Amino acid sequence: MTPLLPMLGAPPRASSAGNATAGNATELPADRFGRRLHDLRVSVTDRCNFRCVYCMPREVFGAQHAFLPSADLLTFDEIVRLVERFVGLGVQKVRLTGGEPLVRRGLEDLVRRLTAIDGIRDLTLTTNGALLSARADALAAAGLQRVTVSLDALDDPTFKRMNDARFPVARVLDAMGAAETAGLGPIKVNTVVRRGVNEHAVLDLARHFRGSGRIVRFIEYMDVGHTNGWRLAEVVPADEILTRIDSIFPLEPISPTYRGEVARRYRYRDGAGEIGVVASVTQPFCGDCNRARLSADGKVYTCLFATAGHDLRALLRGGVADATLDSAIRTLWGSREDRYSELRTAGTADLARVEMSYIGG
Ligand code: GTP
Ligand code: 5AD
Ligand code: SF4
Ligand code: SF4
Repeated sequence: MTPLLPMLGAPPRASSAGNATAGNATELPADRFGRRLHDLRVSVTDRCNFRCVYCMPREVFGAQHAFLPSADLLTFDEIVRLVERFVGLGVQKVRLTGGEPLVRRGLEDLVRRLTAIDGIRDLTLTTNGALLSARADALAAAGLQRVTVSLDALDDPTFKRMNDARFPVARVLDAMGAAETAGLGPIKVNTVVRRGVNEHAVLDLARHFRGSGRIVRFIEYMDVGHTNGWRLAEVVPADEILTRIDSIFPLEPISPTYRGEVARRYRYRDGAGEIGVVASVTQPFCGDCNRARLSADGKVYTCLFATAGHDLRALLRGGVADATLDSAIRTLWGSREDRYSELRTAGTADLARVEMSYIGG
């Protein structure tokens, strides 16, 4: 087979530094670009109680929208079985996502069962925070290690314009406090920055969270899905975000915590903590991408921008043995050659990509 690696314009990638299972006979082979699977994102529902304009625009995700029927959702038994297979093949980090994961009833039970799987080093959850205050203690008791909370502005008019659910900032901040009290810190805060909409929130959030121990990551607005009407002109490049913050609160870069980390890290020179930027549009990081995504209806996607997934639910419900699941996962990872963000062009804009609310962030 013709080597595909030179097309990347980057040296071959070793397995992620945190991947201590390298060499294990059961571990997955690397994909076509030498990347090893390390991180599994599990979407537990395609529903959400927000309608963020960049993710689930109300015109598309309104009353008429057909969400997955509950019979199509993987049961907790099925999720646990698949996660066990993935962990056996090298996954060490599991993130629960949605939609909004906390709208899935009984999520604490799933967390408890995942906690019992030997080999998961990092079990975490991305949430909009709306239901977190009431659930933080139970999630922590079930074994969740930490949470990432999305927050796009500090002022209510802007935040409500972004979430389109009239949800106030104060309740998200309260949820972060409840999560910290429950032991789910340090909290990471995800902020999608959109030109002309919440640009001013960059400095507000930086100022607010400096010295708090909470780590804000500013995310370039992405063309994920095909319903948000994304335009390149609405992307605020990470370098511009950094320059704005640095001009008021001087920054310096710091090393990644692990190989393949999506956020580039910076710390305040005065010691007031750190921030991150996720520059997936202007500085793609596909070369180190070690993530797979499992949708709520049991399809595996090897890229956030995929147009099709691999149906593991059909295998599960067909009663296959673990070895068959393992070999299906091996085959799909071994043939993986996704690097959408590095290839993004005008010509890729119209692809029928799956939605972020379905595949998870
Ligand atoms: P931490 O280890 O807690 O930092 O988690 P993480 O690096 O997995 O970060 P998180 O899941 O919070 O990702 C932050 C944001 O980066 C997501 O909400 C997405 O917008 C974006 N992102 C995450 N993974 C990918 C990816 O594989 N490709 C692209 N293009 N964007 C991604
Ligand atoms: N671009 C960048 N990030 C996005 N998210 C959702 N949609 C987009 C997009 N179009 C992020 C949210 C949240 C996570 C679930 O995904 O900010 O943190
Ligand atoms: Fe819901 Fe998160 Fe999408 Fe907003 S970004 S609509 S909170 S899934
Ligand atoms: Fe990974 Fe696809 Fe994102 Fe590239 S665009 S980093 S391959 S998920």
